[in-house]
Amino acid sequence: MTDTRPPVTDAQRDAMLAAATAAMARAHAPYSKFQVGAAVLDAQGRIHAGCNVENAAYPQGVCAEAGALSAMVLAGGTQVQAVLVVGHGEGLVTPCGGCRQKIREFAGPDTPILIASPQQVRARFTLDALLPHSFGPEHLA
Ligand code: THU
Repeated sequence: MTDTRPPVTDAQRDAMLAAATAAMARAHAPYSKFQVGAAVLDAQGRIHAGCNVENAAYPQGVCAEAGALSAMVLAGGTQVQAVLVVGHGEGLVTPCGGCRQKIREFAGPDTPILIASPQQVRARFTLDALLPHSFGPEHLA
């Protein structure tokens, strides 16, 4: 598959970091105490944010990436141009396996996944690097 989507500009990256960091502050994470924010850039250049929302029935918790994707779909977005995930601490907060697959539904192999602290982007991956040999909507065609 050829990905013709444009790369992320510095201004878009900064706006995604700001949106994800603001979302992180709204996280409902009373159990893990681990707040996460995510921002999705859609094909129209719009940014959609999400935070993790945990639940007393622990498995029902939802990751920040899932919230951001839901916001994109609600706004009519159909393509993910880039994703940014922000968290605190030393370790890189990369999307969990389930979220990699959720991103895959709307993204291509070269879609950038940016991993950040509230201050800066710390690492940059492609979706294909995080989810190689993936299964997607075209496999059902
Ligand atoms: N979490 C996310 O929201 N996104 C990630 O990329 C990694 C993990 C959340 C799930 C849970 O609420 C908390 O972080 C601890 O795992």
